[in-house]
Amino acid sequence: MTPKILITGANGQIGQVLTKALRTKYGQEQVLATDVNSIENNEPFEFLDIMDTTKLHEIIDRHGITQIYHLAALLSASGEKNPLKTWDINLNAFLTILETAREKKLDKIFFPSTIAVFGKTTPRTDTPQDVPLVPSTVYGMSKATGELWCQYYHDRYGVDVRSLRYPGIIGWQSLPGGGTTDYAVEIYHEALKSGNFECFLNKDTRLPMMYMDDAIKATIQLMEADSDRLSIRYGYNISAMSFSPEDIYLEIKKHIPDFTISYKPDYREAIARSWTESIDSSLAQKDWDWKPDYDLTSMTTDMLDHLQNMYK
Ligand code: SER
Repeated sequence: MTPKILITGANGQIGQVLTKALRTKYGQEQVLATDVNSIENNEPFEFLDIMDTTKLHEIIDRHGITQIYHLAALLSASGEKNPLKTWDINLNAFLTILETAREKKLDKIFFPSTIAVFGKTTPRTDTPQDVPLVPSTVYGMSKATGELWCQYYHDRYGVDVRSLRYPGIIGWQSLPGGGTTDYAVEIYHEALKSGNFECFLNKDTRLPMMYMDDAIKATIQLMEADSDRLSIRYGYNISAMSFSPEDIYLEIKKHIPDFTISYKPDYREAIARSWTESIDSSLAQKDWDWKPDYDLTSMTTDMLDHLQNMYK
């Protein structure tokens, strides 16, 4: 049966691209975008504040929703400015979604987790799937706890919930907001617009990253995977590449030789340092055949190609 999908946070960085990809796959009318912000050409769309449970239920019933991709969240940097609100949006609103999935017997739920679940007690390189999680941000705390609820609702109630730990996501289609990895998108825009970039992380702070195309591919592949193959219901580690601001700067410089960078680390540097540098995604490979297509070199060529057209 063709799914009828509701996406929360559909107008965010990943949401915009995932909504289009799901519409291409299942049909325009099969995918309902919801958000607190509106953008053009995103029909069908409904305004939805994720804390409004009555409206959420009304929308699910009226549209005959069978699957939810729950992307609405505050990210690591903006979360620190309002911890309790972040907990409400990232965790309490997600519990409502899980409970709704149980009550209304929805087919599938997607929960985006993150490398922010890792913390200072986590091995920093080739981080294995199962490690101590003592996150340092409220964003990481809310996602680590959300992962536990995913496993619980699956094991106790049979809710078919699936989750990925996204690394920093980089794409030309949309802008991120409020994250620690946002610099890796902004740097491409500034390279083309001003030829100079001031970076809020240190030059050697290495983080796991992924091109948007791979993030979308991973999400759809996980959601399409045979349920019996999935050995965990908390977030799967996934990986594509790892780099520092200096690495990405030097890669862009191959295309734009005059590009310059300066470093002015702020509070986001401590957040980045509390995460890991690279991820072991062998369980995702084994369970649902995960394999990325892009590395830093191919991503940079593709990013600059697309953005050059935008800035012409
Ligand atoms: N991109 C996110 C952030 O920086 C990590 O999941 O907060």
